[in-house]
Amino acid sequence: MSAPYFGTVRDHRCVSWRNIESFASKNTASITEDRYNRDPTSVMDLKAYLRSRQKKIDRALDRYLPRANTKPATLHKAMRYSLFAGGKRLRPILCLAATEACRGNIDGALPLACALECIHTYSLVHDDLPSMDNDDFRRGRPTCHKVFGEGIAILAGDALLTIAFEIVSTAKPAHRYNISALLHEIAVAAGSQKLIAGQVADLEAEGKDVKRDQLQFIHENKTAAILNSSVRLGAMSANADARKLSAITRFGQRLGLAFQIIDDILDVTQTSEILGKSAGKDAAAKKATYPAVIGLEESRAEARRLTRQAHNALSVFGSDAEPLHVLANYLLEREY
Ligand code: IPE
Ligand code: IPE
Ligand code: MG
Ligand code: MG
Ligand code: MG
Repeated sequence: MSAPYFGTVRDHRCVSWRNIESFASKNTASITEDRYNRDPTSVMDLKAYLRSRQKKIDRALDRYLPRANTKPATLHKAMRYSLFAGGKRLRPILCLAATEACRGNIDGALPLACALECIHTYSLVHDDLPSMDNDDFRRGRPTCHKVFGEGIAILAGDALLTIAFEIVSTAKPAHRYNISALLHEIAVAAGSQKLIAGQVADLEAEGKDVKRDQLQFIHENKTAAILNSSVRLGAMSANADARKLSAITRFGQRLGLAFQIIDDILDVTQTSEILGKSAGKDAAAKKATYPAVIGLEESRAEARRLTRQAHNALSVFGSDAEPLHVLANYLLEREY
């Protein structure tokens, strides 16, 4: 089941989110060849799919966030500045794709998808602070603290994290997973033993000789935990049974780790302009990254291996997992 998906995107072109149009049209051609071009509604037109999902998510986020002129206006402007700066929306898109894989209603999963994006954006605002990665450039613009100052950036991050829970509280839970199960899922993933644990280990590893298992710990926690919860929450919203939830969890774990390895690779191989954030910063800050610890080629091989395992985890869903397969390929082949 996984081989055709894995084989659809072959060459390693340089593709950024900003030139997604050319990536999507080239890859739609390969994705739609053979059996895929018989049913245009089930076939993935990657570009159209991403755009329509982003639109849906952006509209919902706009409804959930206080207006920019709501008091305290500086804070709400800063929250909106970072949230609507042009992120790829991968976590909410993965969340909705997991809902689809479990034959759920994607509108029902929207609060969860939006909450995930708020948490992710908060983590970026704080990650960029001078006391953390000290980045000036994010999502193609100056970072939140560069525009609003450090104090407001910290508070905007706090408020984005907090509003995520307010948004989850509006979700209509499915039979098997009540609101407290959903809140628990997201709180644990964002908490002191997952996302924040990974960020702590990331900071503490700077300039150190890090072993591979420590590196894997950093990546599984700072990044993969939220990615994994994204697909898990999508599945939970669709009332997935235990077998499907465990398959989606395996997918999320593998894809999440692959995603951060690819982020490390892109930091080495791409320009700031393509990434919309400062490239080459990891080596400068002596960060623990896959390319630094195992080399670029072995990092690529590891990302491919993990993505293959992610595809394989989806066999239980059959063609319902088409969007998840295509998204996994897109993440792997973005640009490196
Ligand atoms: C960047 O995530 C931070 C990591 C966890 C690697 P994305 O690459 O998804 O960033 P945006 O949301 O598109 O800005
Ligand atoms: C970010 O990892 C992880 C979180 C924000 C939780 P990085 O520090 O590698 O992300 P970028 O490269 O700045 O986007
Ligand atoms: Mg960081
Ligand atoms: Mg960073
Ligand atoms: Mg990075």
